[in-house]
Amino acid sequence: MAIWGLGTLLFALILVGGVAGHPSCGFPAIYSFGDNNSDTGEHAAMFADVGLPNGQTFFHGPSGRYSDGRVIIDFIAEAFGFPFLSAYLDSYKTNYRHGANFALGGSAIRGEHGFSHTSFLQQVFQFAQFKTRTTALFNKLGSDAAKNQSAKSILPRPEEFRKSLFIIDIGQNDFAFDLQHTSLEDTRKQIPEMVKSLVEPISMFLNGRYEARHSVIHNIGPFGCLPYHIKSYQKKNSTCALDQYGCVKELNEAVQEFNRQLKLKIAEARKANPNATITYVDVYSAKYNLISNAKNLGFEDPMKFCCGSYNDQYVRCGEQDSNGKLIGTACNDPSKYISWDGIHYTDAANKLVAKRILNGSLSDPPVSYAEACRI
Ligand SMILES: *[C@@H]1O[C@H](CO)[C@@H](O)[C@H](O)[C@H]1NC(C)=O
Ligand SMILES: *[C@@H]1O[C@H](CO)[C@@H](O)[C@H](O)[C@H]1NC(C)=O
Ligand SMILES: *[C@@H]1O[C@H](CO)[C@@H](O)[C@H](O)[C@H]1NC(C)=O
Ligand SMILES: *[C@@H]1O[C@H](CO)[C@@H](O)[C@H](O)[C@H]1NC(C)=O
Ligand SMILES: *[C@@H]1O[C@H](CO)[C@@H](O)[C@H](O)[C@H]1NC(C)=O
Repeated sequence: MAIWGLGTLLFALILVGGVAGHPSCGFPAIYSFGDNNSDTGEHAAMFADVGLPNGQTFFHGPSGRYSDGRVIIDFIAEAFGFPFLSAYLDSYKTNYRHGANFALGGSAIRGEHGFSHTSFLQQVFQFAQFKTRTTALFNKLGSDAAKNQSAKSILPRPEEFRKSLFIIDIGQNDFAFDLQHTSLEDTRKQIPEMVKSLVEPISMFLNGRYEARHSVIHNIGPFGCLPYHIKSYQKKNSTCALDQYGCVKELNEAVQEFNRQLKLKIAEARKANPNATITYVDVYSAKYNLISNAKNLGFEDPMKFCCGSYNDQYVRCGEQDSNGKLIGTACNDPSKYISWDGIHYTDAANKLVAKRILNGSLSDPPVSYAEACRI
């Protein structure tokens, strides 16, 4: 999508490479799995477009993303010098040379606990099919005739799957969905099952014929700081305690409990898969840090959001009334907000989160994304 000048590429390599002297892994591609936070067009391809004002800042039109601009996985792809990852199900101008994105808005670790009835495991199966079919096609296009070369130029190289980086960011919808249908107490009881349903497919595809070897797992962000979910939860528990920034403490405690258990299970999975790398990234801290430093970073009150509104009733960003008039309008300057629509982050916020996580300072083991092949 973007044309990369030499300067940009060098900058990208420095950003992603972290400390000089540590050789990067030379990942040729990125495969992404997840939900709303990483979707680059999957939900739009399957259901309905994510309409304006979404996409207005960076893409100047709808781009299938829940943001005014880029999402975190876009900044990661940029840092590697890759084009943005095409959504697996998108049929328009797709390019899979440097990976694909299986993340789907509304998806949950456990499909029946999400808003789009697809699970993380299903995304892994989609990847398996993608790998088999693109490999077959690539091999079929074997000859070096010019026409075949242009068809091949948008396909992944079959030998590169095992050298690629797999990034997973999912789980927030499990909390959102369960809280909508049950109590916080019952939601918390589900945590071990959630962790198991996330780590088992990861072990599976790091093991067998999937040929995946290097993975990065994002933990869940501070769910209790999302303005939409704060308002919704206050209807459940009007006396719930807030922290100094206005986040719901007991919601953040619940996702932190999930994150603790996830980190432990990943340590076990690492032992069981000695030839694979699994890097755990504390995205929670990157996001919480942004919220707690909002003022210094030049943002508005982090409990405000730019697009749509939530007074008595939630007006979704991009929502139209029965006459087709836009009622979910955006603020004048999205770059002043952390939250775009009460649930998802702005381009400006995602950019800062990506910057904080890419160099490995929030990773366990503490390696940058570019070095995440080191066992
Ligand atoms: C994710 O998107 C779905 C719709 O695609 C929405 O119903 C859900 O509320 C969003 N997730 C969260 C955690 O808010
Ligand atoms: C592409 O490669 C296949 C297999 O090598 C060959 O049969 C076919 O004729 C080639 N097509 C073109 C347009 O060269
Ligand atoms: C409501 O919030 C208060 C204060 O955080 C807490 O003590 C109480 O247990 C919560 N009630 C429920 C039903 O979760
Ligand atoms: C790890 O890789 C080495 C070298 O390729 C191989 O001999 C060994 O069997 C692998 N171990 C596992 C558990 O896959
Ligand atoms: C990583 O980047 C963040 C944000 O730019 C910075 O605050 C931090 O000091 C960096 N850490 C290392 C180890 O370079």
